[in-house]
Amino acid sequence: MRVLGIETTCDETAVSVVESNQDGEGRILSNEILSQIKAHQAYGGVVPEIAARAHVEVVDLLVKQALATAGLTLRDMDAIAAAAGPGLIGGVMVGLTTGKALALVTKKPFLAINHLEAHALSPRLTDGVAFPFLLLLASGGHSQILFVRGVGDYVRIGTTIDDAIGEAFDKVAKMLGLPYPGGPEVEKQALEGNPEQFAFPRPMQGRKEPNFSLSGLKTAVRIEAEKIAPLTGTDIKNLCASFQAAIVDVVTDRMKMALRVARADFGEPTAIVIAGGVAANLAMRQALHRLAAQNGLPLVAPPLALCTDNGAMIAWAGIERLRLGLVDGLDTPPRARWPLEAKRSADV
Ligand code: KG4
Ligand code: ZN
Repeated sequence: MRVLGIETTCDETAVSVVESNQDGEGRILSNEILSQIKAHQAYGGVVPEIAARAHVEVVDLLVKQALATAGLTLRDMDAIAAAAGPGLIGGVMVGLTTGKALALVTKKPFLAINHLEAHALSPRLTDGVAFPFLLLLASGGHSQILFVRGVGDYVRIGTTIDDAIGEAFDKVAKMLGLPYPGGPEVEKQALEGNPEQFAFPRPMQGRKEPNFSLSGLKTAVRIEAEKIAPLTGTDIKNLCASFQAAIVDVVTDRMKMALRVARADFGEPTAIVIAGGVAANLAMRQALHRLAAQNGLPLVAPPLALCTDNGAMIAWAGIERLRLGLVDGLDTPPRARWPLEAKRSADV
């Protein structure tokens, strides 16, 4: 089975061809990506209008490149998949319309993919993880702890009640004058800082419900930064290291609680998985690795390039859905919001 996947929900235009063999194992044949980071950097964050226009300019070229790299043509595809949300609506429309047009002219099945589902299923492409697994889905716009029982079968065990984890990284970076996107910058600065220099709070640590709250932590960083301003390079490194230590502690504690809830309510997972852009953070991976090992479970995290937004995860989610016959109509709308637990547009 071969599927072309298109991703345009945020600030990366990405197209990929993925195939699966008879045993259901996936193989990435091409994974083209054009980041718009430079276009947005001057504004300190993603500007939706600029993003949508930039997607329009390059998406057809990337489709061509993805096919050329794979050494295939559209005729060799079994289906066309595109992210239909959640995300910035202008950008979503670009990728979704492109996907529909390709499906229409080639008369191939069309798959409208939930971007979060694509992140959630990506460890099955990279590591062949079996259902069920406990997933921390942590990106710039979403942070949820899910028990993944099957394709389209996600139970939300916990969530952030305010900022997403990546968003907290991005906001802290911005307040310290670091460039967008903030997560990788904070991690880089933290490497040379002292994580114990500032005693930041660990909100909701120890609570029974595995939710988390990050806005208080973010505010604590701001108050501390204002207190010691003007900031030296060392101050910034120490603030980043202390913030990262706090957020990693909070997330690890919440995952520990989530695992307890999952085991009590749903049974034993095959693995703990971290997906979404924040999964690129090594400190987060290490802490979750320890938690998993303490519980006799493997920690699975996709390779860095497949943690942040990419086309391969869309193509793979397409393969998983196509296998189950879950194809979509060409009238499927683009969606700015699309909670993962409601799998089909009709359910919301
Ligand atoms: O999944 P993703 O590429 O896009 C969304 O769907 O949001 O995630 C992007 C988010 C951003 O908030 C970015 O700062 C964060 O992931 N991120 C990181 C790291 N790399 C990316 N956060 C912490 N440490 C990192 N190394
Ligand atoms: Zn994402």
